[in-house]
Amino acid sequence: MSDPVLRVTDLTKVYTARNLIGRQYVVHRAVDGLSVSVDAGETVAVVGESGAGKSTVGRLALRLIEPTSGTVELLGRDLASMRSSELRKMRAHATMIFQDPYTSLNPRLTIQSAIAEPLEVVGAADRRERARLVGDLIERVGLTQAHLSRYPYELSGGQLQRVAIARALITQPSFIVCDEPVAALDVSTQAQVINLLRDLQRERGIAYLFISHDLRLVRLLADRVAVMRGGALVEEGTTDAVYRQPTSSYTKSLLNSIPAGSPRARKFGLPPTTPRTTPHGPDVSMAVGGRSGS
Ligand SMILES: Nc1ncnc2c1ncn2[C@@H]1O[C@H](COP(=O)(O)OP(=O)(O)OP(=O)(O)O)[C@@H](O)[C@H]1O
Ligand SMILES: [Mg+2]
Repeated sequence: MSDPVLRVTDLTKVYTARNLIGRQYVVHRAVDGLSVSVDAGETVAVVGESGAGKSTVGRLALRLIEPTSGTVELLGRDLASMRSSELRKMRAHATMIFQDPYTSLNPRLTIQSAIAEPLEVVGAADRRERARLVGDLIERVGLTQAHLSRYPYELSGGQLQRVAIARALITQPSFIVCDEPVAALDVSTQAQVINLLRDLQRERGIAYLFISHDLRLVRLLADRVAVMRGGALVEEGTTDAVYRQPTSSYTKSLLNSIPAGSPRARKFGLPPTTPRTTPHGPDVSMAVGGRSGS
């Protein structure tokens, strides 16, 4: 079997600050001895309540922040040993989609420039080739050529998140950290964006580290689930196993808090009358189709 695209081992991140006399003190132990891996083409969800350390794990996975201890191997390379020029190149293969498309895109860049920028950063493709790649991708994410000359403020949240997806895809990565990628969107737009992410994964074999507190979404998307609490891993397994037979009481309480038959459930094709095949919710499959520009 091939190496995982991401392997995180015994990872710890302690946020520190300095007091008035310059002495460092611990502010928060955000990640505490976490080990998790993501194989090629699979989706591993990181779930847990607010403050559990999910986003910190996502940032550590791409070395956007430095770990306090532990190792991160990305695409077979130990990130700590990489020089900044190598890291820059690595960022073509491993990218990120953030929660809030309103703040993750530079308001001064046109959509064309926002999508093309990562290619420029890694020095890939000449101007013409970049324009061609951006032109292809804008349509693949469900937008049109006319959107390319616009600015972020002219687009809706759903459209902006499609732009953020195109930007994350332009360098043809094999791994993407998706940090609550639809949390800022309304429910029907969420379904469209999730379907898009899933279709792109199938087409391109991309692996996702999918950070979410939305356990319904996670069940639809993830192959495996890692449950975090207070920076530590409390449970990890296939999505099916974790949802059917959670081993920790924390996971059980998270699963029990999923509202049944909510508007979100209906949008994602989960009618409230669906027969329950587990104690925690219906056996679901993604039933929302199409991808209109929202
Ligand atoms: N730069 C920082 N300095 C100090 N503490 C931080 C910093 N960033 C995050 N934290 C703290 O670390 C903990 C984990 O934060 P993190 O953002 O990883 O949580 P999360 O699981 O993503 O939460 P949410 O679901 O709200 O996004 C939180 O208690 C947070 O306040
Ligand atoms: Mg977060």
